[in-house]
Amino acid sequence: MYQLTHLFTPIKVGRFTLKNRLIMTSTAPSGDYATASGKPSQWLFNYLEERAKGGVALICTSVSFYPRDPESEHYPAAYLEEHIADLQKLAEVVHRYDTLLVGQMITIGQWRRNIAEPEHKWGASEMVFHKGLSPRQVMSEKDIQIFISQQVKSATILQKAGFDAVEILAGIGNPISHFLSKASNNRTDKYGGSIENRCRFLVEDIQAIKKACGDDFPVLVRFSPVDYIPGGNDLSDAREIIPVLEKAGASWLNCQVGWHETSIPLITKDVSEGYWSFITAELKKVATVPLISAYRYTDPLIMEKTLAEGKADIIGGARYLIADPEFVSKAREGRIEDIRRCICCCRCLDDVVGRSIGLEYCSVNPRLGPEIAIPLEPAPKPKKVMIAGSGPAGLSAALTAAKRGHDVTLYERSPRIGGCLTMSAVFSPLYQQLTDYYQNQLRKTPNIKLLLNTTITSELVKKEKPDAVIIAVGGLPIELNVPGADGDNVVRSHDFFELLSGTIPKKSGFINRAMFTAGAIFLKFFYSPGLLNKMMAFPWPFGSRVAIVGGGLPGCDLALELTKHNRKLAIFEEKRKIGFDVGPSDRFHTLNKLKKAGVQMEAPVKVLAITDKGVKVGRADRTEFTCEADTVAVTMGFEKNMKLADELQDIVPVLFVVGDCADPKRMPEATKQGYRAAQLI
Ligand SMILES: Cc1cc2nc3c(=O)[nH]c(=O)nc-3n(C[C@H](O)[C@H](O)[C@H](O)COP(=O)(O)O)c2cc1C
Ligand code: SF4
Repeated sequence: MYQLTHLFTPIKVGRFTLKNRLIMTSTAPSGDYATASGKPSQWLFNYLEERAKGGVALICTSVSFYPRDPESEHYPAAYLEEHIADLQKLAEVVHRYDTLLVGQMITIGQWRRNIAEPEHKWGASEMVFHKGLSPRQVMSEKDIQIFISQQVKSATILQKAGFDAVEILAGIGNPISHFLSKASNNRTDKYGGSIENRCRFLVEDIQAIKKACGDDFPVLVRFSPVDYIPGGNDLSDAREIIPVLEKAGASWLNCQVGWHETSIPLITKDVSEGYWSFITAELKKVATVPLISAYRYTDPLIMEKTLAEGKADIIGGARYLIADPEFVSKAREGRIEDIRRCICCCRCLDDVVGRSIGLEYCSVNPRLGPEIAIPLEPAPKPKKVMIAGSGPAGLSAALTAAKRGHDVTLYERSPRIGGCLTMSAVFSPLYQQLTDYYQNQLRKTPNIKLLLNTTITSELVKKEKPDAVIIAVGGLPIELNVPGADGDNVVRSHDFFELLSGTIPKKSGFINRAMFTAGAIFLKFFYSPGLLNKMMAFPWPFGSRVAIVGGGLPGCDLALELTKHNRKLAIFEEKRKIGFDVGPSDRFHTLNKLKKAGVQMEAPVKVLAITDKGVKVGRADRTEFTCEADTVAVTMGFEKNMKLADELQDIVPVLFVVGDCADPKRMPEATKQGYRAAQLI
């Protein structure tokens, strides 16, 4: 049993007490979680309810404090008296579970696409820190007062609706943080210059809300102590800002990291667990109100350690609860291995912030978007379900079908579960952690029988006579059809899938055949992604110069890994850009790292042939060149694979095809499709 005593010690914040030290920082799920006019939908009620029920002490939810452009993101509206009734219902749902509810009055800042809302464009100056953003609209003193009066009105509405507090967003480059930062605030009026002046906008806002809502109504502040933009605020500024905000009446300081315009990774896989706690650890030396350390926490043991070492008072985060709404109750009960931890793929953030669509997809949690509106009911009659393939789609289908009471047999042709996870785990331990989670859940679910090294065939299906079959066997590799593609110097990502499945890929060349045979035998009995990662340093199968054909996510991941092992690399992609399918949160950093490592990246180009010298490539301007390489790695992704579906369609009463074999996409789609199929049986 794990001792998480610090995490589960209550703490007082202003007039309220948190029952534990875990909060959900604001998420604006947008999309259909609210209508264009700001009416919260059933999705939002259920989203908040699932998380409150899961035991978190407090949830922040974003609300709009001014009328929004219907074309922009949908947030619950909180600026007119008529909004109180719906907001009240939200508060009631959350309070039912002894969880507190805070409304964060949100403006993101210039980051959003151009929409007709001055609030988004406002700033202390015109300055922006990311190419492609148009200049900010400089706020006049009148604009500042309009902003404050809108927030005051919204705070009173939230208070009347029974919200426990309001949070002012003053970080990530939004209008207020544009004033706080010494990089963006070049004003010469009373809102610019000294720390006191740069804080004035925020201080006036806090004080005006306190005046309207009463001195004991908690006003919380979320800000970025360190901006991570050139010339921006650092810890020394933050040390001076904190006493000013405390004096103004802030009841807690919820510490974000950086701005949306920051060019270093903040919450991707590259950032280690709890890394940013050094910020609150430093600021605790001056703060007297509770400090929240947020960003990049998924492990309850690291959360506990952060508190135990006195580096923060409260742990905040969003994705740990997007991934598993029951995170807190599982941690409290010591069921740590049952926690479905976020793998930091950033899909949720990319959809909501990067692509301005709703929160519908997560790599590990299928119950978002339309799924959240439908309770997962036990099946009226348990059915016999056969599932082919234990990648993300098959695993999601198996656990969901079993949860509904069906009698599930999961067939996996390889010696271990995971499908594409077994390969991804070589590049990141977060995928192995997810596979371990699935392994544990399968072990603990009595109505799932796992059969490894077993392939579903039509004969087996005829013999077993299931009520339903779910096919989740993965896609077929897209082959490179050019002269030389079957050469000794060519390895395909699929060769490694075969290897990890304990199958010997068909290869030419004596060394290749011998090594792949030895590898397949070894991997049949022993699999360690960490060891496989280390083995990438060996001169086989990747020589010292590697040309990668296929610049999507798998190609970029492979290149990034090989740069650590001193290979000279080139990537060739037919589509318009390298990393075309890498989410916005990761793409910038991935390309940056590849560039810094001197990787030659060419897109769009066509690979014309592979020779023993390397790769012959054609550019759009019809010029051709040869890239010298010892190894050519083909990572062109997958296409659909309906072979088994075609064989089974007339012999089973109910058949679903899910994941990459139906429509090759990313893990969130596969996880959701598996869930949906199991929900329909
Ligand atoms: C889908 C999504 C929506 C978010 N919306 C907001 C928001 O409205 N306001 C805010 O302050 N932070 C927002 N965030 C940031 C989170 O509150 C959190 O600070 C961030 O995700 C880093 O913490 P994590 O690593 O625990 O996810 C959002 C994050 C996600 C993933
Ligand atoms: S989508 Fe990815 S980053 Fe977001 S919660 Fe799910 S696993 Fe984590």
